[in-house]
Amino acid sequence: MIVFKVFAAYMGVIATSAVAHPAPNNHQDAGLVSDILTKFHQNDYKLKFERVELVRFNKQYLKKLEVVTYKYNRTSPVVNVTWMYGTDLPDYDAVVQAYRFTSNEYRLFPLRFQMSVCGAIKTSAAGLQTLTHCGNFTGCPFLKDVPTRACNWSPDETRFPPFIPDGEYMLEIQMIFRNAELYVLRAYSSIYRPIVKK
Ligand SMILES: *[C@@H]1O[C@H](CO)[C@@H](O)[C@H](O)[C@H]1NC(C)=O
Ligand SMILES: *[C@@H]1O[C@H](CO)[C@@H](O)[C@H](O)[C@H]1NC(C)=O
Ligand SMILES: *[C@@H]1O[C@H](CO)[C@@H](O)[C@H](O)[C@H]1NC(C)=O
Repeated sequence: MIVFKVFAAYMGVIATSAVAHPAPNNHQDAGLVSDILTKFHQNDYKLKFERVELVRFNKQYLKKLEVVTYKYNRTSPVVNVTWMYGTDLPDYDAVVQAYRFTSNEYRLFPLRFQMSVCGAIKTSAAGLQTLTHCGNFTGCPFLKDVPTRACNWSPDETRFPPFIPDGEYMLEIQMIFRNAELYVLRAYSSIYRPIVKK
């Protein structure tokens, strides 16, 4: 029953977000969506994480931002991030838009939502809490002029929404503070269901 309710809420998110782009400064709604997202647990599919790319960042807010994906071992890519903010940021929002690879290109997939970054870290949405497990990032808020490093991070597939079809996906993640863009990331992964032999 709970599973169904969460699924219904999730479909609501998809249905509303697919048509309307969320207002970039609607922090209260972002909190609500992240509440919904943090309830996700799935073992319906496997996620094969590939890489995260930094597309651009705003030098008015960040003195430094570097994102590197490397192979932790033969099978597991992980991400190292180093940053230094130029201003104190208590929290900011992530606007996430999914794309699915079909007919030779990434095409808009009807999954878009906005969530608070600190809320996502606190509740470990997508496994974000493990950003504090390697390096010297201890959690929010983000403070001015403190060089910080998080390492060996990869997403936790069990903390993603269920019922996403198999395929290759790209998530474009735009970070925003009030009306300013802080930085943009693209994360690449594929989703698959192993064939169960009976
Ligand atoms: C690679 O590292 C991951 C994360 O520690 C681990 O779960 C996995 O078993 C390792 N794979 C191999 C082939 O060593
Ligand atoms: C965090 O680690 C980085 C790189 O190792 C270092 O330059 C920085 O001073 C450290 N920051 C803090 C607050 O300890
Ligand atoms: C990422 O961080 C880990 C842990 O500190 C380090 O061993 C590794 O060399 C780093 N990789 C890259 C590509 O910076």
